[in-house]
Amino acid sequence: MSDAAFPDLPSTIAHRGLSAHAPENTLAAVRAAHAAGCRWVELDVQLLGDGTPVIWHDSGLRRCSSGRGKLQRLSLEAAHRLDVGAWFSGDFVGERMATLDAMLALIDELGMGLNLEIKLCRGRDAKALVDAAVPRAMAALPGERLIVSSFSLAALDAMRRLESDPKRLRLGMLYDKAPRRWLDEAQRLDAYSLHVDWRRLTLNVACAIAASPCKLLCYTVNDPAAFARLREWGMDSAISDDPANLIGVPRLSY
Ligand code: G3P
Ligand code: MG
Repeated sequence: MSDAAFPDLPSTIAHRGLSAHAPENTLAAVRAAHAAGCRWVELDVQLLGDGTPVIWHDSGLRRCSSGRGKLQRLSLEAAHRLDVGAWFSGDFVGERMATLDAMLALIDELGMGLNLEIKLCRGRDAKALVDAAVPRAMAALPGERLIVSSFSLAALDAMRRLESDPKRLRLGMLYDKAPRRWLDEAQRLDAYSLHVDWRRLTLNVACAIAASPCKLLCYTVNDPAAFARLREWGMDSAISDDPANLIGVPRLSY
């Protein structure tokens, strides 16, 4: 779907930064995405124990850092002592956890767009995360270079309460599989986009979304044949670990 008011959403978005080639959700992964020609990245945001918003996917530290335990128990000082690059490869030893502020400054400096996912882990407070993250993102980036998405309806509701103008705050509704009520929810929230798991998307639902005012984004698309098929189905943008692999032309803008 084209939208003259927002011509710039590319056909691919780098998932957690260029996560096929750099440690996910790090400054290095965003620099790598930019160097590879990506114009937009998708990143996850959560709160540390002291309330600092940071770019992180899991509730725990084990998979992607030198630490153990829960992110929500960490202070910023303790977070900065962790190595978040060595688990991926020796090329990234010494990488530090990115605060949302540092990440927003980098994305703005690089002129990139951001799909910020409000990652609400079990038991966490939606409003606290939205209040800490969304005004920062809106202050750092123009509305046309920001989509804030979430699986959490409570978070999406809190965001729309924070900013009622759908052009100033573009909301992305995240689903594994779009439910029957997706259009009602999208209209209620004045949502900009639906983000669905491509493996659970049918042609009928894709066509219905493509015919609606909402953009259709699919995650996590790493198979070139699936990408081509989804584009035929009307997908606007694929969230991918390795966008160049979908397009087959590295270092071009896509
Ligand atoms: O935003 C799309 C995708 O990132 C949602 O799943 O688990 O990778 O954050 P996840
Ligand atoms: Mg995500």
